[in-house]
Amino acid sequence: MKIAILTSGGDAPGMNVAIRAAVRYGINKGHEFYGVLNGYYGLVNDDLIKLEHKSMSGIISFGGTFLKTARFPEFREEANRQKAIDNLKARGIEGLIVIGGDGSYRGALDLSKMGLKVVTIPGTIDNDIYGTDYTIGFHTALNTIVEAMDKLRDTSVSHQRCSIIEVMGRECGDLALHAALSGGAEFLVTPENPLSKEYIIDKLKEYKKEDRTHAIVVVTENIFNVHELAKEITEKSKFTSNATVLGYIQRGGSPVPSDRIIATRMGSYAIDLFEQNIHSVAIGIENDKLIYLPIHIVLNNKRRVNPLYKLVKEVS
Ligand code: F6P
Repeated sequence: MKIAILTSGGDAPGMNVAIRAAVRYGINKGHEFYGVLNGYYGLVNDDLIKLEHKSMSGIISFGGTFLKTARFPEFREEANRQKAIDNLKARGIEGLIVIGGDGSYRGALDLSKMGLKVVTIPGTIDNDIYGTDYTIGFHTALNTIVEAMDKLRDTSVSHQRCSIIEVMGRECGDLALHAALSGGAEFLVTPENPLSKEYIIDKLKEYKKEDRTHAIVVVTENIFNVHELAKEITEKSKFTSNATVLGYIQRGGSPVPSDRIIATRMGSYAIDLFEQNIHSVAIGIENDKLIYLPIHIVLNNKRRVNPLYKLVKEVS
């Protein structure tokens, strides 16, 4: 079978590992592979390269995606999708593996409705995809955040300040939640745990009375203007405060072993599914077991609120 692979949306450490696993596992089973450059944009523009066993050499430790990625909202237009399908057909390609987040899954679902055999793999640092405990890239980003928090804590303790750290995650607080637990934060603000500014300031006033000398606030992006929050904390509580927005640093870096392992498992599983003629599905990992669900189920369901939220409250 001829299979194409693309990465789309925000890059995530471990995407290369998933590509490598699918290609090497698949070639060993007699399949042929093509890499689509720049995500769906490359699919529409027929920008494909042949992938060989040796093309995967050395990429296991590289962050980002060697196939490049793009956000391409124009893929919602049916004419563009038809072009993509025609391009694949002309090359005799029957299957497509899409590695990305929920935006990429929407494109995958639309293509599968048009008759293409598609399997998706969750690749995003946000960990915001239904039907999988973890997405590829999440643990590497978490590691980056916790390293940054440990550094921030040193200066926060020394200066007796309240440090605010803003992390990525879009609509999902998983990065912030796991970082707060691993980095010992006093406050966690996420879409699932929306603390108000007033609550944080009142609590900090109490901390002062209890002689607590520093605090760390972890906030998911797009909730507060963290610099304004720091200013307000400085004005209204007795703590001086500053804010650090971690930004795109969280998306880079060499994938940690746990990301490499799930990426390898998911990449090879995609080939197993094609071989069983199972497609229009999204791969996930639940309780350490690989699973698959129809893509529309994954897109139309929300992840349950993580029970770890309770623990953050109890240990802060
Ligand atoms: O989905 C991954 C992510 O890094 C989010 O955490 C963030 O909100 C978004 O991508 C940023 O996207 P862009 O690269 O388009 O600025």
